[in-house]
Amino acid sequence: HIYASSKDASKAVAIEIADLIRKKAAEGKPCILGLATGSSPKTVYAELVRMHREEGLSFKNVVSYNLDEYYPMEPDSIYSYHRFMKEQLFDHVDIPTTHYHLPGGTLPAQRIQEFCKAYEQEIEEAGGLDFQLLGIGGNGHIGFNEPGSLINSHTRLITLDHSTRAAAAAEFGGLHKVPRKAITMGVTTILNAKRVVLLAWGERKAAVIKGAVEGEVTEKNPASYLQTHGNATFIIDQHAAVEL
Ligand code: GLP
Repeated sequence: HIYASSKDASKAVAIEIADLIRKKAAEGKPCILGLATGSSPKTVYAELVRMHREEGLSFKNVVSYNLDEYYPMEPDSIYSYHRFMKEQLFDHVDIPTTHYHLPGGTLPAQRIQEFCKAYEQEIEEAGGLDFQLLGIGGNGHIGFNEPGSLINSHTRLITLDHSTRAAAAAEFGGLHKVPRKAITMGVTTILNAKRVVLLAWGERKAAVIKGAVEGEVTEKNPASYLQTHGNATFIIDQHAAVEL
C-alpha cells in the first residue's frame, strides 16, 4: 500500500493495531504484539499514544515482544531499544510493566542461547504473535536479520553488518561506539506472526523495497522472505515507492 505521506500511512497502521487491541479486549483475550524500533515506527507509536490519551485506547491487554536489542547494551542507555520503547510508547500508555519484553542486552554470554530459546517459547505459549510491526534496514534486514539470515532462523545473537553499524554511527557518535552484535528474533519467528506490516519511508529505502517486493525471495534481502507470508503488507510512502 502506497500512501502520500508517512503520516497518513502511520495513522492507518495505528488504526489497524488499535482495532486489533480492542477486538481482543472485547473477547477477553490478550493482544500479542511484535514491536520494532528505528525511526520508521515512531509516527505509529505517536499516533497510538494520541489514541490512548484522546480516545481512551487501553493497552492493559497488550503483551509485547520486541524484535531486537544491541548486545551488549545497558537497558537505560540512551542508545538502547529498551529506552527507545519506553520513551516512544510504554511510558505514555497503560501497558503493565510486566507485559512488555525485549531481548536482554546485559545477559552473560553463556546465557544468551538459553534466553533466546525461552523468548521464543514464551511467544509460542502466549499463542503466537497476533501482529508483527517491522522496519527495514538499507540492506534489507528485518529486526537484525542481516543478509545471509536463513528463512528458518530462530532468535539468536548476530554479528551486525558493517553497513548497519555505519548507518547507526552518527547516532552513537562514531562507528567505534556502535555495538558489533545484537540479539534478534529469527526470520521464522517473524514469519510465524499471524499478520506482518513492514514500514518504509523515504527515497533512501526505494531500492531495497523494490528488491524485497518485486525481486526474488533471497537471503540477500531478508525482507523478501515476507513474500512467502500469507498476510504481510508493505506500507510505504510515495518516496519509498519510486522504484516500483
Ligand atoms: C535498525 C533496526 C531495524 C530497523 C532499521 C531501520 O537496524 N534494528 O529494526 O528496521 O534500523 O531503521 P529506520 O526505521 O530508522 O530506517
